[in-house]
Amino acid sequence: MTWTPEGWRSRPAKHIPEDYPDLDALSAATAEIGRYPPLVSAGEARKLTAALGHVADGEALLLQGGDCAESFAEFSANSIRDTFRALMQMAVVLTFGAQKPVVKIGRIAGQFAKPRSSPIETIDGETLPSYRGDIINDMAFASDSRAPDPARLKQAYSQSAATLNLLRALAHGGYAALANVHKWTLDFVSQSEAAARYRELADRISDALAFMEACGVSATHAPQLNETELFTSHEALLLPYEEAMTRVDSQTGDWYCTSAHFLWIGHRTRDLDGAHVEFLRGVKNPIGVKCGPGMAHDQLLRLIEVLNPDDVPGRLTLIARFGAAGVGEQLAPLVRAVQREGRRVVWTCDPMHGNTFKAETGFKTRALDKIFAETRDFIDVVRAEGAWPGGVHVEMTGKNVTECVGGVGGLTEADLSSRYHTHCDPRLNADQAIELAFMVAERLRGLQADVNSAADAAE
Ligand code: PEP
Ligand code: CO
Repeated sequence: MTWTPEGWRSRPAKHIPEDYPDLDALSAATAEIGRYPPLVSAGEARKLTAALGHVADGEALLLQGGDCAESFAEFSANSIRDTFRALMQMAVVLTFGAQKPVVKIGRIAGQFAKPRSSPIETIDGETLPSYRGDIINDMAFASDSRAPDPARLKQAYSQSAATLNLLRALAHGGYAALANVHKWTLDFVSQSEAAARYRELADRISDALAFMEACGVSATHAPQLNETELFTSHEALLLPYEEAMTRVDSQTGDWYCTSAHFLWIGHRTRDLDGAHVEFLRGVKNPIGVKCGPGMAHDQLLRLIEVLNPDDVPGRLTLIARFGAAGVGEQLAPLVRAVQREGRRVVWTCDPMHGNTFKAETGFKTRALDKIFAETRDFIDVVRAEGAWPGGVHVEMTGKNVTECVGGVGGLTEADLSSRYHTHCDPRLNADQAIELAFMVAERLRGLQADVNSAADAAE
């Protein structure tokens, strides 16, 4: 089937605003963005596909995390660096604990467009369009602010470019050197139980590095000790922007969407005949699909056929988000069907989006015990079907926010108002994120031990 970057325009497109007051201004903005440099290269995207191929084969893990929605107002070097640090800490916990390489992808440098449960919002009798993310409109509840503004596409591009520039510097400029494993701890987490466990682990890593150096292996010989790789991702929701960022790779002649390394299709836009599936099937980037309540196994198999017809390992990541109550029952038939068809996909768990509730105080929140329960059940269900529970996908931040309740620190609903800063969904703070990483690492290590002892018994 032929494919063009604009082919999605003839399909039903959910969650893309149609009420831009000035459509010529939108076309002018996307034409301008079409002339901007790519944010990522095709070669980098191919590298990520290859790395995710190892996750699909059970040889590595995927850690994907960051804001629910990035915002123009919160854009700062500190918040980018803090998210980077928290991701690095989680990755170290996972690598050390599960003894597998960890592929790191941020929900960052482009995560600006949000699907909303309702297109309108009513406050005190006044009804306005919902906030749809900073690339589309403004959060302030006023009719001017809520009108979609094409200039925001260019601002989102600029912010993504600057964010990516800092991320590359942090990843390759020495900050991410494993010798800094102690220094990534954020000040506010230094008192917590997760931080104490992290310190213990960091001590062991430092000892191992010192031992290796004494043996003659140092960062001079093993440059991977001095740097890391952090890929970028976001939901490919606002297709006029994604189309403008889509280019032919001169090396291969293939189309790549150069707004991020990895793009995913949300739970609300994964219709087989819809615009989002049509768009993403034609770009060669590694892509993801959210799998949630209501997805039938035959529907999933058709999606896999459309999105990854050549069964390239690493091309397709299935992001399960059923909620703690649903995952046990609803995930197994999907994994079984994929296994039966022998399709090579990455299975990962988003334990955030199926576990959102409204606290009595009115804040949208998530409870740590549900997030942990869903992640545990995900690992067990996927494993029981003979597939590899490849990773986690979380909304998190390096900032000391109070958005999710529970955890060792024991945030309560009454604490939520203290530092509730998210522009959309509640995120794990660094402390809670590290706690989750420890749990996942332990569970996967346990699995590994089970697999090893089964292999020993069989010999
Ligand atoms: C998201 O990841 O921010 C999101 C909206 O998720 P979902 O599509 O799974 O609801
Ligand atoms: Co979200």
